[in-house]
Amino acid sequence: MNGKYNASKLALGLIKDGMTIGIGSGSTVEVFLNLLGERIKREGLRIYGIPSSYQSMLAGLKNGIILTDLVEREPDICIDGADQVDSRLNCIKGGGAALTREKILAIASKKVLILVDKSKLVEKLSMPVPVEVLPFAYGYVVKKLSSICKPKLREGKGKVGPIITDNGNFILDCDFGVIENPEAVEKELRSIAGVVENGIFLSELIDAVIVGGDYSAEIIKK
Ligand code: 5RP
Repeated sequence: MNGKYNASKLALGLIKDGMTIGIGSGSTVEVFLNLLGERIKREGLRIYGIPSSYQSMLAGLKNGIILTDLVEREPDICIDGADQVDSRLNCIKGGGAALTREKILAIASKKVLILVDKSKLVEKLSMPVPVEVLPFAYGYVVKKLSSICKPKLREGKGKVGPIITDNGNFILDCDFGVIENPEAVEKELRSIAGVVENGIFLSELIDAVIVGGDYSAEIIKK
């Protein structure tokens, strides 16, 4: 918890009155939003936010963020978490199944900042890559994916059967083992009809990663 808190605390200093934030999802983003909420109250800031999930929408509302969308505003900064970050700052995201809107927000934002605790740092990406799939295309996509990785349909907790994303789709967690070439895997996943989005966020999308440790945090830039 301290790592998430320390990373969030450092990121908080980059937020200025009147900014629009692309709000990622997950527990680290929630820690950040709670801290931002305290600043909004204390300093009377007006902060706009475009949430990537119902989770971040509710956390944004609770913390006094003015919710908006990509029609009204362009995000100045996207704040998000990640499940793994490699030594070149490529990330795997989608542990919370919000990867599609998260990637759209990252692409649409002027700057992208990823907050992680140090347990997320790895030399090479190696965890299963979440892939959001249109339910209609599920059978076809599983067949295609099975020739390049081991896909597993993500099941719900507190619900039988597959989880359904905020966009009404399935998630396949795709095990590629150690990913030597994230660019190639990302491109291949993107090329499959019925794949809505994949959880590889290439470093070209990311401006900096803030890594939180037990007592402090540091910014890693490319
Ligand atoms: C959600 C995500 C999250 O950012 C990622 O899973 C990290 O979550 P947490 O901050 O809870 O560790 O990609 O889709």
